[in-house]
Amino acid sequence: MFAATALVAFLALPFTCQFAFSVAAADCARKYTVKAGDYCDQISAANNASTYQLAVTNIGKINEDCKNLQPGQDICLGFVGQDCTNTYVVKAGDTCTGVAAKHGLNTTLFNHNNPQLHAECDNLYIGEVVCVGGGPAVPPLPAGAPMPAATIPPGAQPATPPKAEPVEDDEDCDDEEDNEDEDDENLPWCDEL
Ligand SMILES: *[C@@H]1O[C@H](CO)[C@@H](O)[C@H](O)[C@H]1NC(C)=O
Ligand SMILES: *[C@@H]1O[C@H](CO)[C@@H](O)[C@H](O)[C@H]1NC(C)=O
Repeated sequence: MFAATALVAFLALPFTCQFAFSVAAADCARKYTVKAGDYCDQISAANNASTYQLAVTNIGKINEDCKNLQPGQDICLGFVGQDCTNTYVVKAGDTCTGVAAKHGLNTTLFNHNNPQLHAECDNLYIGEVVCVGGGPAVPPLPAGAPMPAATIPPGAQPATPPKAEPVEDDEDCDDEEDNEDEDDENLPWCDEL
């Protein structure tokens, strides 16, 4: 009886360890209990846990669009030793370099702590919570996990409006003075330039 139980426990052990390793490699430093009406960026802003950090510390618990929060559910705000508590809520007109400079950070460190942001910073959005702590602080992205918060969520606005596409010179639409005998007016797209 004892031997059989021990054998079962032994067989189960590697799987348990593997699961524990991939899901909870680090201990939770701060917990938060979800309230009715909460949404991820609001929890992030109120508790100084960046958008990226909140997502990474709750992989497998909070889904990508943050639509599965349940009142009463315990979530983790940061891991021990991987917990950026110095955060900033992005406002209209902010840029990555601007936010970094305002907090005395170089962009290398800012990008390290906000790895979801593109180098061009075109996915920084209003209401996003970024880490502005000094030193490498946030939990790394587990191997194989998709980068959270890499796209601007539906309904959110980019912090910096995308630059207007430069108007390209369309060779089919010649300037009238250069080309009096050809009639560009028959080309409908030329009128719009
Ligand atoms: C978040 O950080 C601000 C500014 O440092 C501080 O005033 C506030 O108490 C912090 N809130 C929490 C929940 O830690
Ligand atoms: C950025 O700042 C960090 C922390 O102060 C420093 O260790 C690092 O060398 C700096 N990197 C650059 C490229 O200046």
